[in-house]
Amino acid sequence: MAELQEVQITEEKPLLPGQTPEAAKIHSVETPYGSVTFTVYGTPKPKRPAILTYHDVGLNYKSCFQPLFQFGDMQEIIQNFVRVHVDAPGMEEGAPVFPLGYQYPSLDQLADMIPCVLQYLNFSTVIGVGVGAGAYILSRYALTGLTSSIPEMILGHLFSQEELSGNSELIQKYRNIITHAPNLDNIELYWNSYNNRRDLNFERGGDITLKCPVMLVVGDQAPHEDAVVECNSKLDPTQTSFLKMADSGGQPQLTQPGKLTEAFKYFLQGMGYMASSCMTRLSRSRTASLTSAASIDGNRSRSRTLSQSSESGTLSSGPPGHTMEVSC
Ligand code: BEZ
Repeated sequence: MAELQEVQITEEKPLLPGQTPEAAKIHSVETPYGSVTFTVYGTPKPKRPAILTYHDVGLNYKSCFQPLFQFGDMQEIIQNFVRVHVDAPGMEEGAPVFPLGYQYPSLDQLADMIPCVLQYLNFSTVIGVGVGAGAYILSRYALTGLTSSIPEMILGHLFSQEELSGNSELIQKYRNIITHAPNLDNIELYWNSYNNRRDLNFERGGDITLKCPVMLVVGDQAPHEDAVVECNSKLDPTQTSFLKMADSGGQPQLTQPGKLTEAFKYFLQGMGYMASSCMTRLSRSRTASLTSAASIDGNRSRSRTLSQSSESGTLSSGPPGHTMEVSC
């Protein structure tokens, strides 16, 4: 029987005469995880994304991508795009060896460096080409918001899409604060830590749940409303007051401070920290009221869900055995 023989085929199709490799421009930018070097070929083409490559372990952009990007037939494709070839830190040609004990960035951190490269170049959209570890890094980057800048991602966390597209004065104010923050790099670090958070692993009736009184508040149009509802379902209903605020978005403390103040006073009163005379004064001065409503799990006697409405009414709330009645 004939033996199968492995034949190595290397396609040879060098650049055609007249096709000269474009000049490369090498850049480095500082990021929260150290500096990163990248090489740009070609010029930005209006309304076209850049091609962004990320190489595998043991390679750099040249040893990983040169045979492909200098392949003859490839030229008619890549000439329509500017190319940004990122070298992982310390992988660029001539890179010095890192000092002993240097903590190499995690793959997540390498992904988090990519927005710094794109911000530096002022590119907002890319076509990613990654190999092995590079493909992981690009996928991780794509998961955290490919086309949004860090400030826009943070705004999407703080406010609902409806609030953002409404572009009220409040949104303009907070967009301005975040976009022009002199400590934006620090904000990004906090943002990254938030995105790498662990699950709290609350379990109703289990060992891991809050034992103290909790007031949980969410706007009914908040971007993470479902997460807060789920959190409420995992907390001890005898210790938890859940307030879903009507007509409220992601930041009720900014948009509805009056209603939140009132709910907070009820919560404090439930713990015995507010005189009821103060509550009476408050209830007279308020413009909106809070009414009692059925709880999420339909068990009024065990859990409290406060549903803010525009109708006058009474509020029943407070820790176990504590009911506040406020007439309006
Ligand atoms: C490019 O044209 O994008 C390219 C050139 C040399 C090596 C890698 C890429």
